[in-house]
Amino acid sequence: MKKVMLVFGTRPEAIKMCPLVNELKTRKSLETIVCVTGQHKEMLTQVLDTFNVVPDYNLSIMKEGQTLFDITTNILHGIKEVLEKEKPDVVLVHGDTSTTFVTALACFYLQIPVGHVEAGLRTHNIYSPYPEEFNRQAVSIVSKYNFAPTRLAMKNLLDEGKDPKSIYVTGNTVIDAMAHTIKKDYTHPELDWVGKDKLIFITAHRRENLGQPMHNMFRAIRRVLDEHPDCKAVYPIHMNPIVRKAADEELGDCDRIHIIDPIEVFDCHNFEARSYLILTDSGGIQEEAPAYGVPVLVMRDTTERPEGVEAGTLKLVGTSEEVIYNEFTKLLTDEKEYHKMAHAANPYGDGHACKRIADILEGKNYKPFLN
Ligand code: UD1
Ligand code: UDP
Repeated sequence: MKKVMLVFGTRPEAIKMCPLVNELKTRKSLETIVCVTGQHKEMLTQVLDTFNVVPDYNLSIMKEGQTLFDITTNILHGIKEVLEKEKPDVVLVHGDTSTTFVTALACFYLQIPVGHVEAGLRTHNIYSPYPEEFNRQAVSIVSKYNFAPTRLAMKNLLDEGKDPKSIYVTGNTVIDAMAHTIKKDYTHPELDWVGKDKLIFITAHRRENLGQPMHNMFRAIRRVLDEHPDCKAVYPIHMNPIVRKAADEELGDCDRIHIIDPIEVFDCHNFEARSYLILTDSGGIQEEAPAYGVPVLVMRDTTERPEGVEAGTLKLVGTSEEVIYNEFTKLLTDEKEYHKMAHAANPYGDGHACKRIADILEGKNYKPFLN
């Protein structure tokens, strides 16, 4: 029996790996083991509970204000013991976090094959997003299986000289997760508060945006909300204390924004689907929102998800206060501009990514996702 170990540690990895854990557990020819690094704590537990995934190992490395050095060294030491004990035939990692990179590095040191889920995303600027672009490129050097979500991601890997036989276009597992979350009759007290006004949904957390860029983002949002009484914003805030302090300083006394604790992924998807507009620097939300046809202003300088930009749903607006203010205002005042962006597209998957990955690991034939 082939032993497959999945290692992940943050909220978005968990959202995208838990559906895969549950699929792999149905396969009789595979033994599935889950190790979480605990790079996140509360935000990770929330997702594990939603998908009923109970990890076999938890390295519990999170500490407040952790640096990249803390995360890297603590995971590297912790994961060695687990890998040496379990001796998996393949280790699956996801995307581009420090958990992902360090686990792949440990596997390389121990010569254990790595499968990279959500492989091949690129901005080609290792400082944007930071440190994620470095992480994902570094994993591609060692990975044996590359599960690319889209054909563009496959092309990025081929351009870097990866063996075509190691690349599989599967779609993104987040679309699989969404099949279980969206409910027509969904209600929530925050949505009742918004009522008939326009729901503006906000998230922000990127490391390279901490400091001035984040203050710029919040100031622009504040100005627009002050000028548009028909809008209410809901912002489930990341647990990073630096983010919380900036949000409190810029938005704390604004009565048309509710800053709430992180919500369950089930709630998050239903909020997104009911939003008039989303402002975010998140990666995952860029993949989810196009499916609902909800326009997204991406508050970053680069994106590794150009499929959504091409589909018309995402617009990259950077982190300057004036640009965010102008673009946000435009979508509230210019109906033509809004409708240009507000249409459903699904460039990231068809809901069968987990099944494809499981088939590939079992050595079965698979039909690629053709976006
Ligand atoms: C990490 C990933 C990033 C990913 C993001 C998803 C790295 C370097 N960064 O960034 O790629 O987009 O997760 O959200 O891998 N905290 C808590 N409880 C939690 C989670 C976080 O208190 O459950 C606080 C802690 O103080 C922690 C801080 O948030 O030190 C930052 O967490 P960290 O994982 O270092 O960075 P993220 O910005 O979350
Ligand atoms: N999300 C969530 N609760 C929240 C905010 C976000 O479940 O309060 C989900 C969201 O639907 C998406 C993922 O978390 O699937 C994105 O995570 P995040 O923005 O933290 O990380 P990134 O995708 O940028 O790496």
